[in-house]
Amino acid sequence: MNILVLGSGGREHAFSWKIAQSSRCENLFIAPGNAGTAQIGTNVDIKVNDFEAIKSFVLQNDIDLVVVGPEDPLVNGIRDFFEGDENLSKILMVGPGRAGAELEGSKDFSKKFMERHGIPTARSRTFTLDNLEEGLNYVSSHPTPVVLKADGLAAGKGVIISETNEHARETLKEMLVDAKFGNASSRVVIEQFLKGIELSIFVLTDGRNYKILPEAKDYKRIGENDSGLNTGGMGAVSPVPFADDEFISKVEERIIRPTINGLTSEGIDYKGFLFIGLMNMDGDPYVIEYNVRMGDPETQVVLPRIESDLLDLLIATANGSLDQTDFQLSDQAATTVVMVSGGYPESYEKGKEITGIENVQESTVFHAGTKVAENDSILTNGGRVLAITGRGDSVAKALENSYNGVAKISWSEEYHRGDIGQDILKLLN
Ligand code: AMP
Ligand code: GLY
Repeated sequence: MNILVLGSGGREHAFSWKIAQSSRCENLFIAPGNAGTAQIGTNVDIKVNDFEAIKSFVLQNDIDLVVVGPEDPLVNGIRDFFEGDENLSKILMVGPGRAGAELEGSKDFSKKFMERHGIPTARSRTFTLDNLEEGLNYVSSHPTPVVLKADGLAAGKGVIISETNEHARETLKEMLVDAKFGNASSRVVIEQFLKGIELSIFVLTDGRNYKILPEAKDYKRIGENDSGLNTGGMGAVSPVPFADDEFISKVEERIIRPTINGLTSEGIDYKGFLFIGLMNMDGDPYVIEYNVRMGDPETQVVLPRIESDLLDLLIATANGSLDQTDFQLSDQAATTVVMVSGGYPESYEKGKEITGIENVQESTVFHAGTKVAENDSILTNGGRVLAITGRGDSVAKALENSYNGVAKISWSEEYHRGDIGQDILKLLN
């Protein structure tokens, strides 16, 4: 089988690494990929939103399956583009169409979807410029902290938590009047602040059947003890101790089933990953957000815990036969530590030479922002550069393997958090 993975992050390297282990994988291409994916497949210089170029490549190279990594092409309708083209419509794809991708592409849509289907989430209301005054009154008397969310995609920056009503009023004006996040904040969802511990659940669904994949906790802030700016994610751990069978069955009953049934009843054919960000409030799960793809860096801990052939699962997702397949879960824990360019998530330099990757044996090095130089050395090429995944019989052992790997790699102005997983270790003790 010939497979095309779309994307260029650590998530896509992890997908490629796992897909390449399948005996059914003949040719693996990654567009655009990074220095890590180039070692296991062929990188193709095509952007993920260039549907015409993707079409030509897919037809010329007899691609059988397209795995869409990031949300952008999904929200932009890559599945609809394939389904609407007689030459592409039979090609298998993992990733929902535009209608399903609205679960991530519009917070207002996802909140209304949850309300329609009785799925537990923070209470909310949506405002636009047309009812600005009403919105300002609403935030002025809302209990604090209060959460303001740009409706559309805002590269992970569109959520602002206001500690005071005054700050919330200012933020609402910035979003609606000054278009702080461009068109993405032309609608703003204002919601109740949920207090608890966060975790993420990943579901693979073919629209009727579903498989619950291992859960993970990620570390979004740049600084230790969850301080400083939000990032794409600085590390992840799986499993999460409080996600025991009882908690997961509540998630399945109250959230996963109503979500899948809701999609079906609304005529939305959803074939792909569903990433559910949850708050655990005293043992009860509430949805913070849906994403219509896997997480990055969560993929780098979820896939290493799946022992079965991932390609079988992906094909079954895409052709609607997930009920006829299953997967084995490893007993081992997995952790990943993300190594970033100094300055990230604000401005940073690229093009620094990375050394020591070849010395890492105790963990798996997933590349994100990297590229191969003309002399074959590996250079930094983004904010998040590498994710070092360790495995072990315990979270503590997995972390030791991650951090021993991290210690062998360096470049000028490299930064990583030293406290990934420490909160989980405390919960376990
Ligand atoms: P998002 O960009 O949607 O992933 O949100 C960023 C982060 O904001 C989440 O990971 C949560 O930590 C936090 N957050 C979002 N919504 C809420 C909420 N209703 N209550 C508390 N925290 C929230
Ligand atoms: N790590 C969070 C995300 O992928 O959205």
